[in-house]
Amino acid sequence: MGGSRNPGHAERMNRAGTETAFEVFAMAKEIEKKGERVIHFEMGEPDFDTPENIKEAAKRALEEGYTHYTPAPGILELRQAIAEYVSEDFGVDIDPEKEVIVMPGAKPGIFTGILATVNPGDEVIMPNPAFPIYESVVNLVGAKPVPIPLREENDFRLSPEDVRRKLTEKTKMLILNTPHNPCGSTLRKSEVEEIAEIAKEHNLWVMSDEIYSKIIYGSKHYSMLSVPGMKERTILIHGFSKTYAMTGWRLGYSIGNPEVIANMVKLQINISSCAAAFSQIAAIEALRGPQDFVSRMVREYERRRDTIVQALNSIKGFSCKTPTGAFYAFPNIEKTGMKSRDLMLKLLSKAHVACVHGTAFGEYGEGHLRFSYATSIENIKEGMERVKATIEEL
Ligand SMILES: Cc1ncc(COP(=O)(O)O)c(C=O)c1O
Repeated sequence: MGGSRNPGHAERMNRAGTETAFEVFAMAKEIEKKGERVIHFEMGEPDFDTPENIKEAAKRALEEGYTHYTPAPGILELRQAIAEYVSEDFGVDIDPEKEVIVMPGAKPGIFTGILATVNPGDEVIMPNPAFPIYESVVNLVGAKPVPIPLREENDFRLSPEDVRRKLTEKTKMLILNTPHNPCGSTLRKSEVEEIAEIAKEHNLWVMSDEIYSKIIYGSKHYSMLSVPGMKERTILIHGFSKTYAMTGWRLGYSIGNPEVIANMVKLQINISSCAAAFSQIAAIEALRGPQDFVSRMVREYERRRDTIVQALNSIKGFSCKTPTGAFYAFPNIEKTGMKSRDLMLKLLSKAHVACVHGTAFGEYGEGHLRFSYATSIENIKEGMERVKATIEEL
């Protein structure tokens, strides 16, 4: 009896969220199957290819037999290269043996970092809108996400005063992300310092996602790790996906408190053992080889940013702040009179333009769309023309 029944699913899966960009991408692919040309602004990934010197290093690594397990925290030479790179960039000493873990992407750092520090019932303060994985993992572990709405009039920067207002006895962690996905905002040094002060006063962990630290326009990134005394309570989330256009290599790293890192290593042993050996060797070349690719890529993003922001601001009912980091534009679309998800679906079906609705990043993302401008100027121009034409028909 009941041949089609199964034993049921884990209750915790009802609490796990997802990343809607992948769903929009799948819908766009369905349209492409019918022979239509879709212009993609939904995925948060560089359209540049990984630099040649990094690919060559991976090929050499395969020839040299880097096809086996590596130590769980990562190949020591890579951890040393990461420690040197981050020490130089952020002005803080890092112990490559105890304070660094290499993982298959930055995402596992978010997952294991939260799993290692946050108990059921704890509260975790985070920006909203934000990268949806923070809220998803906090819910998954049975803790409570406490959203801080990012206000457009504050250029979508996380306000330390707003953080203070949300503190309770149960607050265990603050999550921040600068430069920010999806808003393209960047925190000022004084704001990072004030958030650090709050974390010290109230004995909190800080998860600081700085994966876009190199993709910043006209100012310098200031890291939570640069604040004296913060390394001990910070879990830095970083990686190779965005800086070196290496999303498919699955390689990221976390830096922070040695006991947290040790527990993250324990979790990594349970999940994946280690990151791919040849990806790790290639990453040493990424960090120690020439860096001109990164500055060229960022200059090109800046040109695209200016093109897309100007175009978005010329569309009726749209208004767009100029992002200061990452590669996302987050226009306000309230004056179109449509909800962000409905407008996303309309643009996809009518204009064949794929973007992500603001509410995919949290309830306070309503009234906005996210356009990733990691695509060519030609695509940006054509995409914006299509959006404009569709909006004029509304
Ligand atoms: C803010 C943020 N953190 C982490 C990640 C995940 O990076 P990875 O692909 O290295 O896992 C992303 C990717 O979109 C991101 O936008």
